[in-house]
Amino acid sequence: MRKSTNQSLKPVTTRINNNGNLEIGGCDLVDLAQKYGTPLYVLDEATIRSVCNDYKEAFSAYPKVNMMYASKALCTLATSALLSKEGFGFDVVSSGEIYTVYKAGAPMKKVLFNGNNKSVDELTLALDLNVGRISVDNFLELSLLNEIAKGKNKIANILLRITPGIECHTHEYIQTGHLDSKFGFDLTQIDEAVELILTEYKNIKLHGLHAHIGSQIFETKVYYDEIEILVKELARLDEKFGLKLDEINVGGGLGVKYTDKDLPPSTYEIADVIIKSLNASVEKYGIEPPTLFIEPGRSIISTAGVTLYTLGSSKQVPKGKTYQAVDGGMADNPRPSMYKADYLAEIADKPSDNPVQTVTIAGRFCESGDILIREINLPKIEEGDILCVFNTGAYNFSMASNYNRVSRPEMVLVNNSQSDIIVKRETLDDLVSKDLIPDRLK
Ligand code: LLP
Repeated sequence: MRKSTNQSLKPVTTRINNNGNLEIGGCDLVDLAQKYGTPLYVLDEATIRSVCNDYKEAFSAYPKVNMMYASKALCTLATSALLSKEGFGFDVVSSGEIYTVYKAGAPMKKVLFNGNNKSVDELTLALDLNVGRISVDNFLELSLLNEIAKGKNKIANILLRITPGIECHTHEYIQTGHLDSKFGFDLTQIDEAVELILTEYKNIKLHGLHAHIGSQIFETKVYYDEIEILVKELARLDEKFGLKLDEINVGGGLGVKYTDKDLPPSTYEIADVIIKSLNASVEKYGIEPPTLFIEPGRSIISTAGVTLYTLGSSKQVPKGKTYQAVDGGMADNPRPSMYKADYLAEIADKPSDNPVQTVTIAGRFCESGDILIREINLPKIEEGDILCVFNTGAYNFSMASNYNRVSRPEMVLVNNSQSDIIVKRETLDDLVSKDLIPDRLK
């Protein structure tokens, strides 16, 4: 089957240029590090567009598809504007994400609001901005949403988030579809929710069902099974309540290639399995083909991103490892310390040099667990070399913190030899801008 961009370890425009340096989007990474400073998130526009094309082509065989990007992977004004131009809607999970895609000019009818504990303020904002769908997660939310919608004389258009009971083999913290999950209605609770909607909650209109089974998924069969469960439920609700639901949202989850050990399926394989399952299930359960929603995050944005660091101090433990420090770490990329995630890196100013040593890349934060890469073979390191860590587009900036009161890095979007800042580096004044000193301490 055809390869797709999520199977690539590096951005599609990565090459070694005439200076012998790594280049992405036509921009020399050493020049970028000099111009903008490090740590620096670099995002390649061509890679993002290439993934979007993969998704659009892969799903073109099914007539009714709503593609949404899961903003939690990376949510900025520029990326939202770009993905919106590519025709994607958005899965959002907070007022902040709703507001960002709104400010980026995304059509709000293509936005779906998710989350297991949405606040009254968040639901109100979603209704005020006419967010297209709200994926309702639990009984409390159903009643809150109905009240708020009633107060505004509006109808809230919803999906019900369900837990399909599917276990996929990914890190425990990023599994979501198994039965013992904090997300969504258990299969045994769906009927009660539907009954409430049909009898009491007059300001809610139910359109379909939603599930999400996990993240960084390499299997395809789990999607086949998930869809069968969703379609079976649609057919069952039709039979029991005479309810014609015509939407299913299968979530996101397609994996990416962080290291050579990772072999994610292609977008085309995933689409093929999803469409096959849909066609077979629709036939088996005798319902009209529903509109399909997908909401991938990581597979859209991860491969496009790299992080540049300057290599600094090192420590050779007597008869032990060599720690090589960079000027960032767990605050700009918490994934290694949170999930034991692996990353690959190269020295941007000597990508062709042969590896001569095995080092542990340590972050600059005051914690022993702040290790970015456990063991990596690199060429001879000189102070000031620029390290390029690949596949940092997803869940890096979006989970970044100011731990140790360190500013979050700048982010640039590169394309056709041009680089544009899309998120500014925080200044020292930014860091204290929200702090207040009570008068008695002045
Ligand atoms: N839809 C729902 C309802 C989700 O909860 C998620 C991710 C997605 C879509 C997008 O999944 P993706 O295509 O990105 O796999 N911080 C973790 C990942 C957490 C994923 C949470 N939900 C990490 O860094 O690996």
